[in-house]
Amino acid sequence: MKIYAQDSKNAMHADGLVLSFWQPEDVKQHPKLPSWAAGSLDAAEFIGAAGQMVMIRKNGPARCVILLGLGMAEKTNSHAVVAAYAQAFGVLKNARCKTVALEMPALVGHALHNISLSSLAGRIASQVVMADYVFDKYKPADKDTPKSSVDEVMLRMPAANMPASAISVSRAVLMGEAANLTRSLQNEPANVATPSWIAAEAAKTARSAKNGKLSIRVMGRAELLKLKMNAMLAVGSGSAQEPKIVVLQYRGAAHNGWDAAIVGKGVTFDSGGISIKPSSKMDEMKFDKSGACAVIGILSGCASMRLPVNVVGVAALVENMPGGHAYRPGDILTACNGTTIEVLNTDAEGRVVLADALAYTAKTFEPAVMVDLATLTGACSVALGDLASGVLSENDSLVSELIDAGERCGERLWRLPLWPEYDDKVKSEVAVVKNTGEPGVAGATAGASFLKPFVGERAWAHLDIAGTAYGSKPKAGLAAGGYGLGVRLVLEYLSEYKPAKKKK
Ligand code: BES
Ligand code: ZN
Ligand code: ZN
Repeated sequence: MKIYAQDSKNAMHADGLVLSFWQPEDVKQHPKLPSWAAGSLDAAEFIGAAGQMVMIRKNGPARCVILLGLGMAEKTNSHAVVAAYAQAFGVLKNARCKTVALEMPALVGHALHNISLSSLAGRIASQVVMADYVFDKYKPADKDTPKSSVDEVMLRMPAANMPASAISVSRAVLMGEAANLTRSLQNEPANVATPSWIAAEAAKTARSAKNGKLSIRVMGRAELLKLKMNAMLAVGSGSAQEPKIVVLQYRGAAHNGWDAAIVGKGVTFDSGGISIKPSSKMDEMKFDKSGACAVIGILSGCASMRLPVNVVGVAALVENMPGGHAYRPGDILTACNGTTIEVLNTDAEGRVVLADALAYTAKTFEPAVMVDLATLTGACSVALGDLASGVLSENDSLVSELIDAGERCGERLWRLPLWPEYDDKVKSEVAVVKNTGEPGVAGATAGASFLKPFVGERAWAHLDIAGTAYGSKPKAGLAAGGYGLGVRLVLEYLSEYKPAKKKK
């Protein structure tokens, strides 16, 4: 699919067209509404309410025209506008449009005045690239209803906005494609997407990275044993699948050091282990690898966007099963940095896996900044729902940079506390830390507090994506399943990375 900016003064030729309107403008009087469309619209039908869509089918310049409501100009925000455009794109795609024109909204005087038209065009472009994605490889092709596909998307805007938009749109498309790569890994079921399979996919990604700046190393059980990663190995011991650590290295800067390390929880299936989960919705635990899948997408995006930073990505891949060799509640594990862990619940396995992955990454690469992504706690999803991921860190500037990046790309973050006063919640009587806090008390913070001894003194942020990484409903124009969350966020953060600002 090609997606590009186009001068709105040029004649429009497309199968589908989206015209957007703020509420409560008089739609019939609106200068953008072509005369051929005006006659077929009853004013009461369309008021421009947020997300409202009315489709007109006519023999005009486009056979399908969607009038898209953006809501009250002073009340809406960019997230809602972007979602509305992506949903409208989806409707036109289903209507078998091959070419789609999206008329950009006028931003002057609206709640969106703090965002430029070029960045909004970029946001819409990446959302459209992601709205175009479907996971249908296991569905047989239906001869009667061939798959619909869009070849071209034009973002129509004033000529003055085109140079800046061309840049932001091309960057955004690369981000959207990287996120789609992550989604295609997330959506694979656990019987296919084993740690070895994901590692092999990551290797394919590294090989196909165009500028050859992405290298990969895969470590299996023997190497993990040599590195004393006993915590991660314990989590995988109940499964027939061999645990793997994938290390992806992207060098885009001239200096030698690592600017950032991105670490992802990759539990390919989380049955809970001996502390087994209830069956309802257990199928969704194939998405417990989402953090690791995001890492692979992020590193692929670094390479395609040619970001001028050195980034290392670490995906910790392991399956949590209740086999005869499984680890048990009561076990005491020693992670690779010597820190001991008392296991009180084998379902709190993500933090146990991350313990080794973070300690290994910190020691091996000494990155200036470390960020981890993990579907870590149900508590985070209870607190924030599916609209924001949790960010936990003691580094205020890192938190605000990540939050800003989230606002710029539409993947919102909300800070949860990580004060030292919470550390007691995970102190163990028999080891350094225990893997559960008090049930029902500050669960997301307990998860992050547990990770502190494995990170040491460095700029680090933990992103809890349990509520946002995937979903059973379409969201903001994206199909249900993996949402590729975290990919655009971290790429956006890395795009603005300033080494001088990093301090603990
Ligand atoms: N993978 C889950 C967290 C999760 C829950 C992700 C729901 C997405 C949706 C994690 O491994 C887990 O089970 N965490 C436990 C921790 C508890 C036992 C301390 C939880 O959140 O209940
Ligand atoms: Zn679990
Ligand atoms: Zn888990």
